[in-house]
Amino acid sequence: MPQYETILLKNMSRPGYTGSLTDYERAGGYQALRKVLGKVAPTEVTEMVKRSGLRGRGGAGFPTGVKWSFLPKDYQGPTYLCCNADESEPGTFKDRQLIERDPHQILEGIAIASYAIGAETAYIYIRGEFVLGAKILEQALVEARAAGYLGCNILGTGVTLDVWVHRGAGAYICGEETALLESLEGKRGLPRVKPPFPATHGLYNKPTVVNNVETLANLPHIINKGPDWFASIGSPPKSTGTRIFCVSGHVKQPGNYEVPMGITFRELIYEHAGGMRSEKPLKAFIPGGASAAFFTPEHLDVKMDFESVAQAGSMLGSGGVTVMEEGTSMVWAALRLSEFFYHESCGKCTPCREGTSWVLQTMQRIWKHQGCQEDLAILLDLCQHITGRTVCAFGDALIAPIVSTLTYWRHEYEALIQAAATESLISLSTRSRDPGQTGHP
Ligand SMILES: Cc1cc2nc3c(=O)[nH]c(=O)nc-3n(C[C@H](O)[C@H](O)[C@H](O)COP(=O)(O)O)c2cc1C
Repeated sequence: MPQYETILLKNMSRPGYTGSLTDYERAGGYQALRKVLGKVAPTEVTEMVKRSGLRGRGGAGFPTGVKWSFLPKDYQGPTYLCCNADESEPGTFKDRQLIERDPHQILEGIAIASYAIGAETAYIYIRGEFVLGAKILEQALVEARAAGYLGCNILGTGVTLDVWVHRGAGAYICGEETALLESLEGKRGLPRVKPPFPATHGLYNKPTVVNNVETLANLPHIINKGPDWFASIGSPPKSTGTRIFCVSGHVKQPGNYEVPMGITFRELIYEHAGGMRSEKPLKAFIPGGASAAFFTPEHLDVKMDFESVAQAGSMLGSGGVTVMEEGTSMVWAALRLSEFFYHESCGKCTPCREGTSWVLQTMQRIWKHQGCQEDLAILLDLCQHITGRTVCAFGDALIAPIVSTLTYWRHEYEALIQAAATESLISLSTRSRDPGQTGHP
């Protein structure tokens, strides 16, 4: 099996590494912050991040340095950084490992990003269920403040930054950056209409950057080893660096694997994750979290970089790879995800609020052998009317499992519909032979 040098998970693989400040410093931690604070101009830090090619690891893959450069220049009021630690996408569990096992790596990333964008206050928005993670981050903040890496006059440079942990209440939508900002402001977590974008009108209507945990954790390494080093890893020029892929489902070794971008799904699933858990062959996999369209065995040799996965009709998204073996019902898999999206729709946009309910009811009908051929057309029509018509990308997410399973496994839907027709014929003929039945329900 090919072995790759890890970047983000490296510290935690050291024997006895606890993630404490002492351990992190011993592993070279906070050297990058020392290198930049007061020595490299903030704009130069942004340029370095642009040169590294780093793209967001939260889902959309937006170039990080470019996002930072959208903030208004020479703005006189406060600017904020928000670290998105909501990690609510089903099948995704990488940020949690970074938070629990190496919290200072994230804090150093937050400090570097805040310096680059001129933020003196940063928030870590962490999903409510991550109780342990929130405690670990709080503890790490105490250590970092005491050591002078946060607070006023950091390392004697005159730079100020304080960081706060804010616990969410466990709503998927609060991972969407503008719903996150609403929630952080104490309001109900509903996405905002964009534009204006957070870069100009973000938290408390001030210029704000929202970045994912893994995105920020890369920053100390880009500073320490240089943007060109980072840009040479993975699948340059558009997909640089490593990614932590979260493999779950019917594999022998589910877990987080940090590999350079651009390896194939086949390598990730069969070599790193140990292959299928039983003799049953792979039937399907989700390449990038529940919002991504399903792939088939034909897609195993697609490269795991932003462009290749998009070209093949899905997305790398949050990095959650869920593997399903032969024998899994794809209608059932899509139904489970429809239940999730129905439960999590925030209700702000009509197509999503009403559409998730319609999609779920139709899927349930088909699954319970009560569907008819017309239901397939209804499903596709619903999906067509949801996509692109919602304030945030939730609408696109909810249709992905439906449309992709209908594309590749339509026969499974049809078999359930055929079963419904057969059962109804049998029940009709039984009733017609039974004089006690009136034929009325
Ligand atoms: C419904 C929905 C849920 C999202 N959930 C998350 C999440 O849990 N964590 C995350 O980092 N980004 C999530 N995102 C993406 C964020 O809106 C945003 O793009 C990201 O935090 C930006 O950080 P990045 O540029 O570092 O990737 C979600 C987006 C949508 C539409």
